[in-house]
Parts: sequence; C-alpha cells; structure tokens
Amino acid sequence: MKTTLINKAMSARESAYAPYSGFKVGAALLCDDGTVYTGFNIENMSYPATMCAERAALYSALTQGKRNFKAIAVIGSSSEPCFPCGVCRQVFAEFCDKDFIFYICSEDGSCVEKTFEEIMPFTFSYTTK
Ligand code: THU
Repeated sequence: MKTTLINKAMSARESAYAPYSGFKVGAALLCDDGTVYTGFNIENMSYPATMCAERAALYSALTQGKRNFKAIAVIGSSSEPCFPCGVCRQVFAEFCDKDFIFYICSEDGSCVEKTFEEIMPFTFSYTTK
C-alpha cells in the first residue's frame, strides 16, 4: 500500500497548480475502507488563499463521507522530504489518530515514515465546562 500511495501522490503532483512558487506537491490519502483520495496544491494570486496538497486530499475524502483515515503519502518537488506545514498538521489533528502514518517523500519518491504523534505532539485541545 505504501508504494501505491506514493505512486498516486506522484501522479497527482503532475496536476498541481503552482504558478507562483513553482513547487508542485501531490498527496494520496488512504481511508480505513481502503479507498484512496488524491490532492495537489492549488495556489492563488492572493497567496494565503493557497490550498496544500494534503488538505485538498483530506477535504476531497471528507466531502465523500469518509471520516476515518490510516495514512497519507505527500510528495514535493525537492530533494528534501516535503513535511506538512503547520496548518495541515492542525487540520489533520481534527480527523486523525496518533498512529496515522505520514509517508513524507522527496521528489524521487524516497520517503521518511512518521506517525501523526511524531510530527504533531502536544496537539491543541480543550474540554468545555
Ligand atoms: N505546500 C503543500 O502543498 N503542502 C505542504 O505541506 C507544504 C506546502 C504547497 C503550498 C504552496 O503551493 C507550495 O507548496 C509552496 O509553499
């Protein structure tokens, strides 16, 4: 499954819309029912409106009713692994368990493997009184 996710992320990356940074990112998210949703970064002339590949994949799955996720492959366009940004980590905190797996890849498909807990310790949460 790891290789499948990486290959799907790699092919999603080809469709990335990144005219401003030139940095294309692709992602492939595995749901607990075995389905896979892909995403890519979608930039905007108003830079903060940009959507990251990981969130695009997650939101795509969420809109199809998926709520439980096992792993994601993320692939950027540099020789360094493309670690998810802080906004994506916070969004994934909403929907993923501590043992959710990130395959964080360099452009050639080589990757490091981290659990969500490893890349996002001390997640923000609160209880209402
Ligand atoms: N980007 C992602 O898609 N995912 C990340 O985790 C980091 C950054 C995108 C956003 C922007 O289009 C480009 O990479 C450069 O920051």
